[in-house]
Amino acid sequence: MRGQSLAVAIQNETGMRALFLGDIVGAHAVVAVAQALPAWRRDRGLDLVIANAENATVSRDDDPRTGFGMSAKAVETLLEAGVDIITGGNHSWDAPDCETVLDSARVLRPHNVAGTLAGHGVAEWKGGGRKIAVVNLIGASAAGRRYTVSNPLAAFDALALDDRHVIVDFHSDSVTEKQTFAHAVDGRVSAVIGTHTHEPSLLVHRLPRGSVFVADAGMVGPLDGVQGIGPAYYVHEMAEFREPHSFELASGPLTVGGIILEIAEDGSAMGERVAPTLVT
Ligand SMILES: [Fe+2]
Ligand SMILES: [Fe+2]
Repeated sequence: MRGQSLAVAIQNETGMRALFLGDIVGAHAVVAVAQALPAWRRDRGLDLVIANAENATVSRDDDPRTGFGMSAKAVETLLEAGVDIITGGNHSWDAPDCETVLDSARVLRPHNVAGTLAGHGVAEWKGGGRKIAVVNLIGASAAGRRYTVSNPLAAFDALALDDRHVIVDFHSDSVTEKQTFAHAVDGRVSAVIGTHTHEPSLLVHRLPRGSVFVADAGMVGPLDGVQGIGPAYYVHEMAEFREPHSFELASGPLTVGGIILEIAEDGSAMGERVAPTLVT
């Protein structure tokens, strides 16, 4: 079932409301989210805000595959503006101050990355008598050669979360991988939201056992490029002009990729895309 309407969700007065924002790209987008969020929280009655911020900061401009992450300043800006939990992905360890950032209980990195990298992948949010676990997972398709990952389903199962009130950020390049995981945990979580590709499907599926699934929340970032990055870098690469070439963020208005979840007392959920409002 697709496209559950917000009007239906609002009828559930016992539900709590969560906003999930896809990958925030660049300082401009960080500031735009920070400026807009207080009004979003108020006008949309949000209890919980989760945002993926793995691309919030350009930490080096010679390779977009390793040059992002989130600076302490970007994280502070988002948290102070009203983001409750920040998630990450393959860029979580790009920025030089990542260890400081990932020390925060409110900043996650993928849980199922092997080794002794900084950070943690699970957070617990409490508010209004409700409790939600937020889990950040990554698929091998997004980790690439940089990181070794364990099976995301096995890693999730090992957490032994006994409460269904769980929102998963599944960071992956593969829609198949995300769909498979979502069906594997349907009825055990409130929602599985995909991140990483920055191209929003924003089709809100309600799986048979009441979990919401969105293959990709998209991004909060500039539209006129490749994943929020100026197209020149990737065009040069595709054309095999492999000389050193710096990249810059794309220009254009900011698109907002997000999902609002209405989570019932039993942990089942309804979802609705946030209209792709453009912030100029
Ligand atoms: Fe990203
Ligand atoms: Fe990513």
